[in-house]
Amino acid sequence: MKTDQNSTNNNCSDYPRTEGSRASRGLAGSDRVNRSLPPETIARLIHTALDARRFSYAPYSHYCVGAAVLTEDGSVFDGCNIENASYGATICAERTAIFAAVSKGHRSLIALALAAAPEDVEPAAIKDYPSPCGICRQVMREFADPSGFKVILAKSTEDYRILTLADLLPESFGPDYL
Ligand code: THU
Repeated sequence: MKTDQNSTNNNCSDYPRTEGSRASRGLAGSDRVNRSLPPETIARLIHTALDARRFSYAPYSHYCVGAAVLTEDGSVFDGCNIENASYGATICAERTAIFAAVSKGHRSLIALALAAAPEDVEPAAIKDYPSPCGICRQVMREFADPSGFKVILAKSTEDYRILTLADLLPESFGPDYL
């Protein structure tokens, strides 16, 4: 069955179409998706991800994660990891943030910042760059252009790495194949 994740023409969407950013192989070289992020945008996303980590519910792993996703219209949605006694029902911070955006009609994602550390580590003392799990990389792939989407792996607003989704998920499968 043909699907279009940006289309309003389906059974479950009355949302206005979000222009552009189909996760299409054909869009990989466009200026729109390859534009660089302004430093103040990077700082805002990292700050939001660090702050979102405060709400992490992680009684099993004690590993607290925060994420902030930037959508094409400039909106920012945040999220934290939310664990569950069944373990398998746990959701990562990235997916919490992305699903918050999509559930408000934002299907075109530009960048995501991630911050993570054990619960006893204050934001100012985070020592390691985080890394998104495979499921979250695949969820990003649904709503972002792989070569344009920036993933900001943050220790702090001053210390971070930026990779593209294509770096993190090479040779990926996505909606453009169906
Ligand atoms: N976690 C995230 O929130 N994002 C990731 O990409 C890696 C893992 C969470 C899930 C779980 O609550 C905890 O970190 C330990 O895996």
